[in-house]
Formats: sequence, C-alpha cells, structure tokens
Amino acid sequence: MCRAAGRVLSQPRPFPGPGKQSSRSLCSAWHHGVPGGSGARGSTITSGESRAGLIAFFFQTVVRDVRIELVGTMQHSPDFPEYNSKAIEAWDRLAEWWDDKIGDGNEFQDYLIEPTTERMLALKAGEQVLDVACGAGRFARRMAGMGAVVTAIDQAERFLNRARDRTAENDDRITYLKLDATDRAAILSLGERRFDAAVCTMALMDMSSITPLISALPTLLKPHGRFVFSITHPVFNSWTARHVAEQYEQDGEIMVKSGITITDYAQPYSYRGFGIPGQPEPQYYFHRPISLLFNTCFRYGFVLDRMEEPVFPEELQSGANNPLAFSRMPFIPPVLVARMVLKSIY
Ligand SMILES: C[S@@+](CC[C@H](N)C(=O)[O-])C[C@H]1O[C@@H](n2cnc3c(N)ncnc32)[C@H](O)[C@@H]1O
Repeated sequence: MCRAAGRVLSQPRPFPGPGKQSSRSLCSAWHHGVPGGSGARGSTITSGESRAGLIAFFFQTVVRDVRIELVGTMQHSPDFPEYNSKAIEAWDRLAEWWDDKIGDGNEFQDYLIEPTTERMLALKAGEQVLDVACGAGRFARRMAGMGAVVTAIDQAERFLNRARDRTAENDDRITYLKLDATDRAAILSLGERRFDAAVCTMALMDMSSITPLISALPTLLKPHGRFVFSITHPVFNSWTARHVAEQYEQDGEIMVKSGITITDYAQPYSYRGFGIPGQPEPQYYFHRPISLLFNTCFRYGFVLDRMEEPVFPEELQSGANNPLAFSRMPFIPPVLVARMVLKSIY
C-alpha cells in the first residue's frame, strides 16, 4: 500500500481523481518496503539521497499536501457507502494484474499474515469457515488444506475465477461465491449459525463499509464464534506514514536507523493508492483508527480476545538492502491481526 503525506480537511471531500496520486511507485503489497523491495512512496531519506531526489521528494510532498483530499475530521462512522461500487469495480479491474504480480505469495503473507492468522484461528478439521474478501483464494486453500470446510466470498468475479483456477486440491472443501461484503442482506443469506469462524485477511481497509459485515457476523457465526482479521497497521502502515532513515556515526561506525513518521491518524479517511508498483490504476483504501475499528466490533457483540502486531524475523532484516523496508524496522509492525469472539448468543 503506497501512501503520501496529506492534510485532513474539515469537511467531507471526494477522492482525488484518477492519476492525481504521485507518479512514484516504490512499494509492493502489503505494502511498502517488502524485503528486497525498494521502499515507500511518501518516504523521506535524510541521507544518501541525491539533492535532485530530495528536491523531487519535497515537490511531491508539497504538491500532494495541496491536492490530496481526505474525508472530514468529524466523521465517526467507519463506513463510506458512497464508494461501495467504485471500490469493488476497481478491484475487479485489478484482479488479474494483482494475481499475476503476487502469484504464489509474498513475504508479508509468508512471515506476518498467514502464520499469525492461522495461530489465532486455531482451526479444527471439519470446522465451517467463512473467508471474507478471499481474493485469489490463497488463504482459503490453506484452510481447506487444514481440513476446514471453507466458504470463500469476494465481489470481484475475476479474482474468483483466478481462485477457482488455482484450486487443484481439496476443491470439495471450498466453495467460492460472488458476494458483496458491504451488502448486509447478501451476507445474511449465507445462513444463520452456520460458521464456526470467519476470517478476513488484508481486506477490511479495502472495503468501503464494514458495518454491514460486522453487524451480520453475529447471526452467521455459531455461539462464541470467532472472527480473525488482518489489516495494514492503521498507525504505521497507513497513508500518511512516511518511512525515514537517518544516518549517524557511533563509535566510528556509520549507522542507519529506520523509522516511521505519521501526520494523520485519529480520523477515518478514504483515499486512492497503488498497492503494487506499476499498477494500472489506483485502488480505494479506507483508513479507520484502531478504536473505531474495534468499537464497531464491540457494538455488535464481539470482544477482543487476542491481538498481534507481527514484525519481520531477524533473518530478513540483514537481507533487506533498502533501509526503508519494513524488514529493516524490527520494532515497527506493518500489520495488525486481531481475534474477536462473540461474547453472547444472538
Ligand atoms: C488486498 S485483496 C486481499 C485478498 C485476500 N484476502 C488475501 O489476503 O490475499 C482485497 C480483496 O478485497 C476484496 N473486496 C473489496 N471490497 C469487497 C467487498 N465489498 N465485498 C467483497 N470483497 C471485497 C477485493 O475484491 C480483493 O479481493
């Protein structure tokens, strides 16, 4: 997920139009600074970058500050229903391109997202699981491989086609369905008390409205059912998070310390950005502060049972030649994974 510096405006504003984002695309899903990748858009390098580069960066930042339009300061709703169809249409157009790029996965999935989600789900063979916004179905297949019976939904038909094509094993344990997770009635049509667990990997921040899903889950899930989700970290891996690297001297040695600065966090906002370098068009993102996200879950009867903020393992840190990569920041988690559990029977 690429992001840029921006100002929060006091009134709700529309998205910047297509092509109004920076032309610099230096990041990979999820998102900047995938190990071995080249880093983050909206990043600052305080040393080792050419003057021309710094001027270009400054220009970009200033220009972006002017033209980036964020949704208003006082919005307390986690939902942006006016973008429901636009967001999903963009995903449908991007699906094949994304699937070609991500292919069999990346380090975010391998090291951060999947092991953590798997541990938190703690699936048992035969359990019924709902995979929300399954994309090309990588995690759905992984769960089916563990013996779960998976219903995998996504609204992007082209992603589902890729998911079906990629499902060579356990196809009797996976059903792919086209379903819009912002449509509460559609979600409820999946059936009452049907699922032992629901999972949503790296997609809530891509979904314009989350209340329809979260308010429907208590009906879909069995008593004390669990809902595990992973998202790009709303603090450290959101749009206004800038990667910085400082070079300094210590005991005669040149050191580089990497970190993140952020400018906007407390208000929900929506924006368009490029998840992968070279992406043909930007996708829509929806920033929600952590409290808003969890309070939405609490409102519909979930309690937070477990939360993890995984970081890249040490062996990747030395391998990353880009000081702005998340893998060079062992103290900063790029993703957040949470397990919500229904506290009572609905
Ligand atoms: C970044 S991909 C993540 C896919 C997959 N969960 C994974 O971890 O690889 C985001 C997915 O969210 C899906 N999505 C976005 N909005 C949706 C909606 N309203 N209903 C269903 N799926 C949606 C997109 O089609 C896309 O497949």
